[in-house]
Amino acid sequence: MLITIEGIDGSGKSTLHESLGKALADLDPVMTREPGSTWIGEAVRRAIREQADPVAEALLFIADHAAHISEVIRPALSRGRIVISDRYIDSRYAYQQVTLAGILPDPLSWLQAVHTGWTVKPDITFLLVVPIPVALKRTGERKTGEHFEQETILTAVQKNYLGLAEQDPPRFIILDGTLPAEHLIRVAAETIRYKREDPRRR
Ligand code: TYD
Repeated sequence: MLITIEGIDGSGKSTLHESLGKALADLDPVMTREPGSTWIGEAVRRAIREQADPVAEALLFIADHAAHISEVIRPALSRGRIVISDRYIDSRYAYQQVTLAGILPDPLSWLQAVHTGWTVKPDITFLLVVPIPVALKRTGERKTGEHFEQETILTAVQKNYLGLAEQDPPRFIILDGTLPAEHLIRVAAETIRYKREDPRRR
């Protein structure tokens, strides 16, 4: 079973990911992330840091995803493991739809086409949604200053995430990222256990 956690920077995604690993320790889940589960992640980090050409940056994120699928995701799933990824395909659909706007005529269709045939679709995607000022306050405290963390970009990215969720309601579970962390962890962990018993459950 493949579970992904998505949301804008400052949505609390990484905290939820980390805590879920502990809450589900008895199931021995494979905890992974994008970007950066393989060596290609180094190139992605450099592209983000140096504000590379948006198409080059998008293709690096996609290359990182391809390596992640073949080196981590498929082997773990074939061994029957539960895999929980901090960011996955929807990060590209939400973020690169923004960075490629004005460069490609229809970024989302392009991104979806590039992933077709080889990616693995998640069984559950938790989408953490937060008001933009809350996200900015949280990222401001971290001060990484990555170009994705600007207000206009985060606003557009979150809108894209909600659009993706609207198109695939059975897969997405939208969580209010302002709720206490313990509550979010409990909801997510119980959802995973419930679905694991019978994957057809919603
Ligand atoms: P990440 O290291 O996950 O940052 P955070 O811990 O803040 O979530 O990702 C770095 C940035 O890369 C983040 O702002 C989101 C962006 N990103 C994309 O634009 N496209 C992608 O496909 C992925 C995986 C991340």
